[in-house]
Amino acid sequence: MACLFPVMLLLLVLGLANAGPPDQAPLGNAHNEEMLSVRAELKKAEIIPTVIDDFIPYISVNVTWPTGKTADLGNTIKPSKTQGMPDVHLSADMTSSAASNMTYTVAMTDPDAPSRDNPEWSEICHWIATNVSLSSASGLDEVMPYYPPGPPEKTGKHRYVLLAFAPANGTTAPLDLTKPADRQHWGYDDERMGVREWADENGLVPVGANFMYEKNKKQ
Ligand SMILES: *[C@@H]1O[C@H](CO)[C@@H](O)[C@H](O)[C@H]1NC(C)=O
Ligand SMILES: *[C@@H]1O[C@H](CO)[C@@H](O)[C@H](O)[C@H]1NC(C)=O
Ligand SMILES: *[C@@H]1O[C@H](CO)[C@@H](O)[C@H](O)[C@H]1NC(C)=O
Ligand SMILES: *[C@@H]1O[C@H](CO)[C@@H](O)[C@H](O)[C@H]1NC(C)=O
Repeated sequence: MACLFPVMLLLLVLGLANAGPPDQAPLGNAHNEEMLSVRAELKKAEIIPTVIDDFIPYISVNVTWPTGKTADLGNTIKPSKTQGMPDVHLSADMTSSAASNMTYTVAMTDPDAPSRDNPEWSEICHWIATNVSLSSASGLDEVMPYYPPGPPEKTGKHRYVLLAFAPANGTTAPLDLTKPADRQHWGYDDERMGVREWADENGLVPVGANFMYEKNKKQ
């Protein structure tokens, strides 16, 4: 009996691991090369690991503002071009997985407030939208209303990070997510706390990302 216990424990752990994040498509096709380059850009900009732990993206996150500007893995956009709430289009290179029916959530965060060198207000929560689906561009629901980027004077370039999340339990039902108590630090106590803590608290795992840079014209 005693010697069976570790085996059962191992099976339990494996079972839990399998119940974890949604299926990831096998590596090796063109889509995944694109996804690995997303991850490489996130690391280069130190979004991994400063904002979010390392992960393999499998969803493309296409965010377009009403001005036509699009976040493009580290392009620079003027704050005046991102004032209105953007459209989000999520896409994935998979057809048969339950992942295609899951409810996705998109969040935007600024880890560089007031500046990248002095992130004492960070992170600032700019947006949380849920009920985002892969298939359609149908209406999303805001958990935290869109608050446009407004980097202060003389604070250099800010990274504005857009993350797409899936429920770790793979549910296809709408999610009941907590609304952060504040935008600063996402309502948490300390500097640097933000989207990672909020996602953990809400049972969400990152599945895709995009980002751009913005700065005040007075530097
Ligand atoms: C992103 O969305 C915009 C607007 O919907 C579209 O014009 C553009 O082709 C999309 N880009 C990608 C890479 O899917
Ligand atoms: C996804 O939803 C569609 C439409 O509701 C349904 O026909 C399909 O069986 C679902 N797929 C999975 C894998 O749950
Ligand atoms: C998501 O959609 C469901 C069903 O339409 C709705 O009940 C729920 O309130 C929506 N979630 C949010 C945060 O609006
Ligand atoms: C699955 O996770 C979501 C997000 O954390 C949560 O809202 C939902 O209640 C969970 N569903 C089940 C069946 O555990």
